[in-house]
Amino acid sequence: MRACQPIITALGCYAPPQVLTNFDLEKIVSTNNDWIVERTGISERHIAGAGMATSDMAVLAARAALEQRGLSPDDIDVIIICTVTPDMLFPATACLVQDQLGAKKAWGFDLSAACSGFIYGLQTGAALVKSGAHRRVLVIGADTMSRILDYTDRSTCILFGDGAGAMIIEAGTPEDSGLGFIDFVGEIDGSGGDFLKMPAGGSRMPASAETVEGRQHFVKQQGQQVFKYAVRQMFDLCETVLSRNGFTPKDVALMIPHQANRRIIDATGERLGLRPDQVVIDIGKYGNTTAATLPLAARDAIADGRLKKGDLVMFATVGAGYTSGAALWRWAY
Ligand code: UT7
Repeated sequence: MRACQPIITALGCYAPPQVLTNFDLEKIVSTNNDWIVERTGISERHIAGAGMATSDMAVLAARAALEQRGLSPDDIDVIIICTVTPDMLFPATACLVQDQLGAKKAWGFDLSAACSGFIYGLQTGAALVKSGAHRRVLVIGADTMSRILDYTDRSTCILFGDGAGAMIIEAGTPEDSGLGFIDFVGEIDGSGGDFLKMPAGGSRMPASAETVEGRQHFVKQQGQQVFKYAVRQMFDLCETVLSRNGFTPKDVALMIPHQANRRIIDATGERLGLRPDQVVIDIGKYGNTTAATLPLAARDAIADGRLKKGDLVMFATVGAGYTSGAALWRWAY
């Protein structure tokens, strides 16, 4: 097999039409728009309608990416679904998406890395293409966070939203020389597992009347712990991935960070010495969509004319686990 250069060739996204604003949330929990905007940067988030599950949003995002590239589902070799809100524990959401799409020649799997899901999916897809084993990998980040949020807990329910984004990674041709994947650095630290989790529904705490009554099937977070870890880790990993490739922050055309809290992004950007125009922030209109934040932010950057062929892009994430990662890609279209 011939080693190939992985390049991102297409991007498609889906955000459900229903919007939940901070003012709507004021009527549900004891919160207010000013607090949410000031402490998180979020104004509104999209919420999936009844009957729409993670696989449905993933399929819509995937179709948009395939259409942009003029590919058919049969052109896809591998489907990686990054999610913590699969339709069900099994079968894998990748199988449900494969079937709905009609991607008859694909294999695939789900990848569970919470907010770092998409960056881990990109790294996995890039490695599969680079090895020469596969020509086209569809990486989808999709999460229906509204289904696992406790709308009586103001410290978490205001943070998250629903959405999906897909990228296609392909083997580059000689004309794509210098474009595509450059490097990735990742870390997991399970000692932080207790700070952000959904306790029940797995083999440790299977569903029971008690777990439901105890609201154990919802997101639980110790926000300050996660916040401090995120600020430190985003900076450290970005610095590592830049320096070991001979780059400085000045070389970055665009940093596309995970959108968990505007203050985390601002702090990371400032510590790296990035100008505001080098950093994508779209948390205001989507909230934290977990595995979907990177593709949604990339789409917004393209729509705003901020992301162009040849640009050096730095993705960076921190999420439950803890999981974290930073990656450099040269945008290829
Ligand atoms: O993507 C996965 C990774 N997740 C993250 O990166 C999230 C990281 N953490 C955060 O973003 C922040 O910690 C939060 C936004 C979750 C919380 O912000 P904070 O500045 O750390 O607030 P806090 O938890 O220290 O709470 C400050 C005060 C408390 O009141 P008292 O005890 O000072 O009277 C909270 O009860 O704010 C109160 N509070 C709220 N007030 C109005 C907490 N949530 C709300 C709310 N509305 N929604």
